[in-house]
Amino acid sequence: MNGPAVVAIDGPSGSGKSSVSRGVAERFGYRYLDTGAMYRAVTWCVLDQGLDPGDAAAVARLLPDLRITSGTDPAHPTISVNGQDVSVPIRGADVTACVSDVSAVPAVREAMRAAQRACAEDAASAGTGIVVEGRDIGTDVFPDARVKIYLTADPAVRAARRAAQDADSVHGTSGASATEESLLRRDERDSTRAVSPLRMAEDAHLVDATDLDLAETIAAVAHIVGETP
Ligand code: DC
Repeated sequence: MNGPAVVAIDGPSGSGKSSVSRGVAERFGYRYLDTGAMYRAVTWCVLDQGLDPGDAAAVARLLPDLRITSGTDPAHPTISVNGQDVSVPIRGADVTACVSDVSAVPAVREAMRAAQRACAEDAASAGTGIVVEGRDIGTDVFPDARVKIYLTADPAVRAARRAAQDADSVHGTSGASATEESLLRRDERDSTRAVSPLRMAEDAHLVDATDLDLAETIAAVAHIVGETP
């Protein structure tokens, strides 16, 4: 194998990246890395320590003390900070409201990029591929990824899916229209930041899941992965 076999799946919030990425990873026996969860874990820590998420210098100073560990089994992904499982609190509204600020800090991006590359190297050493989902995976973290997918859907569809997902979680939902507003605000921030903004890589395959259900979207992405040498 020439370096890690990475499938990069980028796209805006609520496009179904996590479920689709996990499904595709399971189908190919690959590992799975949720990079959004890593940015959320840093944000959770910033809030837990009582720091101002807008204070880039304070956020950067926190990084050397953080050990973020991602469990990459697609059937049971986990995330912990310094040994503490934070899978549930990172999905809270407080973290969601601040994660765009924290993920725009260059030192945070640098640290996460290094950790994400290490995860792929680890998978490659074990002789397996990895599906990595995020915003800058095909453009910045793995510009030589074997396959790049840009997964999107109409904003109203994305908001409805995210609201349904939230309703099923311990955090609950604030309703479809509030979810759409917050989702669009986050997309705007994630797409316009100076460092590694969300954008489609020139060599990415565009998959629009507006009219596809989960199984159909997984099938569409798996087809591209299977067809790409
Ligand atoms: O996928 P998600 O909604 O859990 O991601 C949370 C936030 O993390 C999102 O608003 C943007 C940021 N993020 C990022 O900047 N780069 C990534 N590769 C993944 C997520």
